[in-house]
Amino acid sequence: MLNAFNNYNMDNKQKTADTSTLEQASCCDPGCCGDTSASTSTDLKAIVKEKYGAIAERSDGSGCCSSTPDGTYSIMADEYDELQGYAPDADLKLGCGLPTEFAKIKAGDTVVDLGSGAGNDCFVARAETGESGQVIGVDFTDAMLLKARNNALKLGYNNVSFVKGDIEDIPLPENLADVVVSNCVFNLVPDKQKAFSEAHRILKPGAHFSISDIVLEGDLPKALQKDAELYAGCVAGAIQMDDYLQLLRDQGFKQLEIQKKKSIELPREVLANHLGPKQIEAFNQDFGIYSITVYGEK
Ligand SMILES: C[S@@+](CC[C@H](N)C(=O)[O-])C[C@H]1O[C@@H](n2cnc3c(N)ncnc32)[C@H](O)[C@@H]1O
Repeated sequence: MLNAFNNYNMDNKQKTADTSTLEQASCCDPGCCGDTSASTSTDLKAIVKEKYGAIAERSDGSGCCSSTPDGTYSIMADEYDELQGYAPDADLKLGCGLPTEFAKIKAGDTVVDLGSGAGNDCFVARAETGESGQVIGVDFTDAMLLKARNNALKLGYNNVSFVKGDIEDIPLPENLADVVVSNCVFNLVPDKQKAFSEAHRILKPGAHFSISDIVLEGDLPKALQKDAELYAGCVAGAIQMDDYLQLLRDQGFKQLEIQKKKSIELPREVLANHLGPKQIEAFNQDFGIYSITVYGEK
């Protein structure tokens, strides 16, 4: 279940996972990705590509980080539509924060968006870099890249490009970026350490990142794992916040700061399916799912 994915993430050297439970690791709506079992990093990535490929093709925004099965809930309460550069066609409601808010992007900057989806944050970043800057989105899902490139074409931007690549092995040169942003992607990546080290590599010395992502605090009771995933999404591959920050420190990032931390509450009725009133109180004290936006410098 979730722990299988988390153990996989945190114990990635062994590259093992409980294959019997990895339908949960796909963070799929039921039936979205079929009856999949995965035992390697490659398998997990194939599940993610399939999932986001389908979302890009149907573009209804009901993705991993967006909604409950009934489509009524959005983690991403931050409003994009007031932002300069916002392009509705690029907003598939897949984000879990607003990384550009704290990214200190300046005119002329080179910005790289890791896991750029349909380009939502790229177009917002482009409004800040202006024409003299450059924005590069990296994603490994073909249908997302197609959508993002079409969006850039429609908007007439020639300094926003989308590159196909795995963020564990970014096809960009070192010391390229003034700013790296990312929105709700690292939780999906099996080898977070490798992906963070790649983010570090492509940043110029002294440059910085602003990343929004889902993290956990405390242990999620087994009985609740499935409902939490269906309700909040993006939980299966999320790791403890302290571990997340430690991985960033291990890559050499400095001045780490959580710029925003938003609790994602599981509704009482979801909890009540599995826990008694006293257990619910204890659960609310001991466990949390959070959307964070974290800043750090190379
Ligand atoms: C939750 S969506 C977020 C998309 C976009 N950041 C947004 O906020 O709209 C995750 C995106 O990350 C991409 N992705 C996941 N793992 C990746 C990896 N290892 N390398 C490149 N892209 C990845 C998926 O294809 C998908 O487009």
